[in-house]
Amino acid sequence: MRRNGHSGAAEMLLFASNFIRHPHMLGSIIPSSRYLVNQVLAPVDWERAAVIVEYGPGVGTFTAEILKRMRADARLVVFETNRNFVKFLRSSLSDPRLHIEHDSAAEVQAVLERLGLPRPSYIISGIPLGSMPVALQTEIVSKSRDALEPGGEFLVYQFTSRIFPVLQRLFAHVRRSVERRNLPPAQLFMCANEDWRARLDSNQRPAASEAATLSI
Ligand SMILES: C[S@@+](CC[C@H](N)C(=O)[O-])C[C@H]1O[C@@H](n2cnc3c(N)ncnc32)[C@H](O)[C@@H]1O
Repeated sequence: MRRNGHSGAAEMLLFASNFIRHPHMLGSIIPSSRYLVNQVLAPVDWERAAVIVEYGPGVGTFTAEILKRMRADARLVVFETNRNFVKFLRSSLSDPRLHIEHDSAAEVQAVLERLGLPRPSYIISGIPLGSMPVALQTEIVSKSRDALEPGGEFLVYQFTSRIFPVLQRLFAHVRRSVERRNLPPAQLFMCANEDWRARLDSNQRPAASEAATLSI
């Protein structure tokens, strides 16, 4: 993966200027912190994941890290509705494993079918689901659930917990935590239809040193 010629300052400026224009679509004036990226990606089994989907990559803060960690033969499909971010991602990230779609997360099933890809093991979502009308929240969450492979997981981060009831209604298991070191503090929801507790008990228990991480 190559990150071409853009400084961190350019990313910050692009993100902040788009926040001023579309505050409800972004939810934060700066991209996610490395603490949030690490906590959201902690449950991912990189060996298993052949296809990963990301909603709302923005300037690619999660995208670059996912590309670093994922298998050499895996594919990452990102959905972004903001054309400035799509242009930025296309010019800054060159990796043959990455597909950048200028489209809404609501199109996940249609796009994966068009690309001829198998079902994803993980969908990682940073879009502001909680600020959307309930009908659209329900549509995106249920399409995501149906798009996942058996045993797949929907990993969601948000700045409010408004989406929690919809996730609980549509997934059999939802585990919540908080990342307080992010600005603003973020709520995380790890959603699955198969019970992951056995796996969590053996190798996914949060480290004692993660003092700012609170499992609710
Ligand atoms: C909170 S920002 C997250 C940006 C980045 N992932 C980060 O963590 O810094 C939310 C992003 O979701 C995008 N977005 C909002 N609604 C969307 C939708 N329905 N489908 C795809 N992207 C969407 C916004 O344009 C924005 O880039």
